[in-house]
Amino acid sequence: MYGLRYDTGSLPAMPIRLGAYEAIFGKEKSMQVIAVTGGKGGVGKTNIAVNLGVSMSREGLDVLLLDADLGLANVDVILGMSVGPTLADVVEGTHQLNDVIVEGPEGLRIVPASSGVARLATLDQSEQNDLVRSFSEQIEAPDVLIVDTGAGIDTTVQTFVSACKTVVVVVCDEPASLTDAYALMKVMRNDRGVRRFEVLANQIDSPARGRQVYDRLTTVADKYLDVELGYLGGIPSDAYLRRAVQERVALVSKYPRSPAAVAIRDAGRRLTKNIYDGEVPGMGFFVEQLLRQPSASRH
Ligand SMILES: Nc1ncnc2c1ncn2[C@@H]1O[C@H](COP(=O)(O)OP(=O)(O)OP(=O)(O)O)[C@@H](O)[C@H]1O
Ligand SMILES: [Mg+2]
Repeated sequence: MYGLRYDTGSLPAMPIRLGAYEAIFGKEKSMQVIAVTGGKGGVGKTNIAVNLGVSMSREGLDVLLLDADLGLANVDVILGMSVGPTLADVVEGTHQLNDVIVEGPEGLRIVPASSGVARLATLDQSEQNDLVRSFSEQIEAPDVLIVDTGAGIDTTVQTFVSACKTVVVVVCDEPASLTDAYALMKVMRNDRGVRRFEVLANQIDSPARGRQVYDRLTTVADKYLDVELGYLGGIPSDAYLRRAVQERVALVSKYPRSPAAVAIRDAGRRLTKNIYDGEVPGMGFFVEQLLRQPSASRH
């Protein structure tokens, strides 16, 4: 039987059976890759990433959530899940990627990565190749990959965001959030060449306020940055979201008709409208992009 290990880019010398071919290459399916970021801490990135993921799963999409947040209130905490080995253990070679993936609500798959992300920057070439290979071989490529980044705009956040085709910037109706979102877009534009951002206004009092937040950001971005902003919508400040966090359940599962759940679902639909264009050709490819970013090549 043909093994699963292979040298990237070289076909086996013998004629291969379709089954074996699929085992080697067939898992690489194109997918949409979405970063959820925002600059400022506590604006709602993780809640939005989780609930976007669960609501897309509810709509029948296969969704994988990569928890790349180094902070404390991570995906597992919000969903009340216990996490065993993480991506850090895969990088150290003690676990397979398969052992690390956790099944979340409604079929959402989660890769707990937070404690491993800093280590990614220090991998040598052969470790990088091994990691790319495990992602392409051991993970069934989803329809959508969502990456929850931490707060701030350090090189780790920049690296993850620039590996994603779609960048969602979560912003609240407060000056510090607007300033941080602007700083994030500036560094992503100037240092990483990202030109488009999807703005999601969170914790807003009314739909009009959400639009105003977007307009304010657009005004400064138009003046000082050469970027294009899209408006994904506004998510109201919602006591049900806080309740769901306390109960450690996904808002969109437990309170699907709450105002924030409805708004998140709508934003998800807008994001996945053109999903079948598939932007990134597979998990292995995504990880390769990630490792090829400037911060990851310094070691
Ligand atoms: N739409 C909302 N309505 C009410 N409360 C909200 C809303 N969005 C976020 N919150 C509150 O903000 C808290 C922080 O949210 P979350 O952990 O998702 O932020 P974050 O941006 O991921 O934070 P960090 O920067 O630490 O990763 C939530 O626990 C909740 O109390
Ligand atoms: Mg978070």
